[in-house]
Amino acid sequence: MRVLVLHGPNLNLLGRREPHVYGSSTLPEIDRRIREHARRHGVRVECRQSNLEGQLIDWLQAAEREGFDGVVFNPGAFTHYSIALRDAVAAIGPPVVEVHLSNIHAREPWRHQSVIAGVARGQVLGFGPVSYLLGLDALVAGAGEPRRERRVALGAPRAVRARRGPARR
Ligand code: DQA
Repeated sequence: MRVLVLHGPNLNLLGRREPHVYGSSTLPEIDRRIREHARRHGVRVECRQSNLEGQLIDWLQAAEREGFDGVVFNPGAFTHYSIALRDAVAAIGPPVVEVHLSNIHAREPWRHQSVIAGVARGQVLGFGPVSYLLGLDALVAGAGEPRRERRVALGAPRAVRARRGPARR
């Protein structure tokens, strides 16, 4: 199994960026923990970081072509407003697990909303760097799940809804 780990904007500053919120681990340290954890599970992992929305979209779009079976994704502040990243996550085949170091629901109200969550396979948040490891575990546990099941889990597509008849009020 191959997993792509994507870190979004400002996560390159971890270690010195608001350590009371994000902890003292640097990004290279977190990536090392992810790689060690992946190795123990027999997973091949690649970690990338970008401050650019378009670069993250390009990596998501290329993930399947590059042979990744899943993506662990911390979209950083893009979480809260990037419809372009949401559309990219919705468009691609490999499942995407959204992760956050901090518990976004325990922070400012505008961080409570994630536009990514509705199209992600699931969310792991609030466990510091361990969120990434749990996100990887989730992909390992769900590996091989047929994509059709994923679509149903994400919300029935229009055609399925139509077959069920009009919504009852
Ligand atoms: C974050 C939470 C976001 O609200 C914030 O903008 C980040 C980091 C996290 O990992 O806790 O950059 O995604």
